[in-house]
Amino acid sequence: METVLKNFFLALSKNQMLNQMAKKWGLRFGAHRVVAGETIDEAIVKVRELNEKGLTCTLDHLGEFVFHEQEANEAADYCIKTLEAIAAAGVDCNLSLKMTQLGLDISRDLCVSHMRRILDTASKYGNFVRIDMEDYAHNEITLEILRELRKEYDNVGTVIQAYLYKSEEDVRRLGVERINLRLVKGAYKEPEDVAFPLKKDVDDNFKKLISLHLESGSYTAVATHDDAIIEHTKELEKKLSLSRDQFEFQMLYGIRTATQLELSRQGYRMRVYVPYGNDWYGYFMRRLAERPANVAFVLKGLLRK
Ligand code: FDA
Repeated sequence: METVLKNFFLALSKNQMLNQMAKKWGLRFGAHRVVAGETIDEAIVKVRELNEKGLTCTLDHLGEFVFHEQEANEAADYCIKTLEAIAAAGVDCNLSLKMTQLGLDISRDLCVSHMRRILDTASKYGNFVRIDMEDYAHNEITLEILRELRKEYDNVGTVIQAYLYKSEEDVRRLGVERINLRLVKGAYKEPEDVAFPLKKDVDDNFKKLISLHLESGSYTAVATHDDAIIEHTKELEKKLSLSRDQFEFQMLYGIRTATQLELSRQGYRMRVYVPYGNDWYGYFMRRLAERPANVAFVLKGLLRK
């Protein structure tokens, strides 16, 4: 049943008609629990509240299905506006983005020129930009562009997904270059020839990647809601006598909030991934796919409307 619901929500997340309609609806069906608002001002209010509770943040302006240059230009402008709003508000927050939003599927050059504009703005404000990792089809080109950008910028990093067989090799290589990585399990549906099909193997590989990257001395963001992975990281902290400045935990806005606060109370750097924008529908469906038990709050949201 769980798999049926998971596939159902993943299929819904790709529905472009519903996506277009949702932009006009405003945040509905309980989406406000995992999306911080539709405007940058609303998102900054939420970031400030999280900062006051001891949590640092990364803001992500949501966007799906970019096919035209104009849409990519607008997405890049939003990234810049977000960096400016973070600086103006003086909140503790960096930026996460997806390169397909910046036109990666339209033209590599277009995407790289937008990345340069965004990284110049981030440098001006002493901020950092994280390139989210998308599906396997975009994996190698993302790493290639990262390497190109790293020749000019040191305030950029990316994400490595533990479900991919290639990730161990990537982490070893990026570790030598001391690249700041966010490590995750991986959120897309990938075939067995590129990704571990069994959850246990993904979890084992995740632990291995965390050890490798920390041992290389590189900054490591462990992004998970999984207690076993968090415990593994805490054990490594002791075993390797790590400074707490070398790593952080990350979780999504609205998910396991009590655990986020507890990790911060224990003195760990805890960063919350805060998505915002009117293009919330696909992101919301993917969160439901991860945990179909959350449909309960969708049903409550439906009854309220
Ligand atoms: P897992 O899914 O095994 O969950 C462990 C436990 O956490 C569950 O048993 C449950 O208790 C709790 N939990 C998990 N999801 C929940 C939910 N939705 N609601 C309530 N409880 C929940 N992926 C990717 O491919 N590219 C990327 O760039 C990113 N970026 C990213 C940033 C951040 C900050 C996070 C936290 C995650 C990502 N991901 C990602 C997503 C990641 O790959 C993965 O799909 C999810 O984090 C779920 O995996 P977990 O490690 O949380 O474990």
